[in-house]
Amino acid sequence: MKIVAIIGSIRKESYNLKLAQFMQKRYQEKFTLEILTIRELPFFNEDIENNPPSAVIEFKRKVAEADTVLWVTPEYNGTIPGVLGNTIDWLSREDKVLFGKPSWIIGATPGFLGTVKAQLHLREILFSLSSPLLPGNEVYIGAVHQKINDDGELIDESTVKFLDSVVNNFLLWFNQQKG
Ligand code: FNR
Repeated sequence: MKIVAIIGSIRKESYNLKLAQFMQKRYQEKFTLEILTIRELPFFNEDIENNPPSAVIEFKRKVAEADTVLWVTPEYNGTIPGVLGNTIDWLSREDKVLFGKPSWIIGATPGFLGTVKAQLHLREILFSLSSPLLPGNEVYIGAVHQKINDDGELIDESTVKFLDSVVNNFLLWFNQQKG
């Protein structure tokens, strides 16, 4: 199975990026996780959507070819970060690569609520784009700065255990989707 991870942060030391990198290693026997970069995507603009820069074309191709999208996002001002909204705008138009593409979401923040509001909004957006979303299995990682060490490893045992169960639930659900 080929999974692409879209990270809602372009910060070099992003906790959400580190989380995706941790999952990439921990679950390498179960699936291939490619972390896509959204840093090169320009602002979405209808004037250029029919003739977008190569970064957009390549990014959309990778999403189209993936079996599923894992969204790993922080929360900004009680919602998804602007860079993630911009990314979704690109993915939502023309060839609509998210249509029918299974999705699942995780998110981390140093705050205690662990991206609850951002994920609530992201779920609504994915619903409107007809991207089927893993039901339940809500992963809100609060106080993430205390749960990831300097080597980028998730060291909070209960969070790792929960993540393991969510990954298994995702795989079961994905296989059911395929019929
Ligand atoms: C934040 N942060 C934040 N955290 C949160 O839990 N709820 C929020 O609404 C916000 N709002 C917010 C707005 C802006 C503009 C910034 C820069 C930050 C804090 C945020 O969770 C923190 O910076 C994370 O570390 C960002 O994620 P990455 O880059 O570490 O993945």
